[in-house]
Amino acid sequence: MIILGFESSCDETGVAAVCTERGLLAHALHSQVAMHQEYGGVVPELASRDHIRRALPLTREVLDKAGLSLGDVDAVAYTAGPGLAGALLVGASVAQSLAWALEVPAVPVHHLEGHLLSPLLADPVPEFPFVALLVSGGHTQLMRVDGVGSYELLGETLDDAAGEAFDKTAKLLGLGYPGGPALSRLAQQGDASQYQLPRPMLRSQDLDFSFSGLKTAVLTKVRAQKTPLSDQQMADLAAATEEAIVDVLAGKALKAMKQTGLRRLVVAGGVGANRLLRERLVGTMEKRGGKVFFPPLELCTDNGAMIAHAAALRIKAGLERLEPTNHAFTVRPRWPLEDVCAKVGQA
Ligand SMILES: Nc1ncnc2c1ncn2[C@@H]1O[C@H](COP(=O)(O)OP(=O)(O)OP(=O)(O)O)[C@@H](O)[C@H]1O
Ligand SMILES: [Mg+2]
Repeated sequence: MIILGFESSCDETGVAAVCTERGLLAHALHSQVAMHQEYGGVVPELASRDHIRRALPLTREVLDKAGLSLGDVDAVAYTAGPGLAGALLVGASVAQSLAWALEVPAVPVHHLEGHLLSPLLADPVPEFPFVALLVSGGHTQLMRVDGVGSYELLGETLDDAAGEAFDKTAKLLGLGYPGGPALSRLAQQGDASQYQLPRPMLRSQDLDFSFSGLKTAVLTKVRAQKTPLSDQQMADLAAATEEAIVDVLAGKALKAMKQTGLRRLVVAGGVGANRLLRERLVGTMEKRGGKVFFPPLELCTDNGAMIAHAAALRIKAGLERLEPTNHAFTVRPRWPLEDVCAKVGQA
């Protein structure tokens, strides 16, 4: 079965074709980063308009790359939430219209389920059950995953997400948007030991996180300086920030492994592209006899492949009713993950 998937929840337009038997066939992505850069963050109206411009050219690109025609498509998946309402509506409208025209089912997908299952696009594929560390721009969660649609929330951030902590600190240091990759690059030239930053909630008994105090701590360090930060000091502060975030994420992930007794950890979401986090988790898991899995680097941030893939897995697990509908649809800018769980009471 061939599934065409659309992602448009924020500032990336992603389209992909996935085969339920053969996996990912092709994907194409357009990032709006350059367009939003001058505003220092995502402008929702501009995002929606750009999704409209990109959706069909990207679809053609994916079909060409995969050697498919529209007639080969058996279902159309799309991100139905959570995300920006206008941006979601574009992807949903395109997907539902295509499904209607092709007389195939449309499958609404939860964006976080897409991220959560994206490490299954990697080789080797992690087996269930595993602990998932979901670290994106808007979420920081630890989850126990027993199968497709079987997610139990173990802990989450009480305020800022890890990606937000990267982005806000980067903004404070004048590194632009999105800050995560820029801060991480700068950190490579820095010495983390030059600045002492807190490790919020690292020692708390639970598996929750808190990152909002970290940017305040960085701000305090900047303000304590009598002169503007030198390039080296900027790099040192970036390195200290990255180290603090990674310490907390790795520490809590390890605690979750101990609590659940599981040996497999998967990391998903944009911060999963962070080099230091990857190195730290690989090292820690090796020492403990566990194994860590990441999505392919290009599939850490938003993309269409994870959406088409999540739809494929849900279809294979019998969680989607592929019945003819009138293609009426809605999007869910706020949408708890528990709504897509197979068993009541999970997530
Ligand atoms: N190498 C990196 N190091 C640190 N952070 C990174 C890196 N690459 C990307 N990020 C961060 O990842 C985030 C974007 O990830 P992603 O696209 O998964 O989030 P999102 O889709 O905006 O949020 P959500 O999925 O929660 O709605 C940004 O905060 C970005 O700064
Ligand atoms: Mg995302």
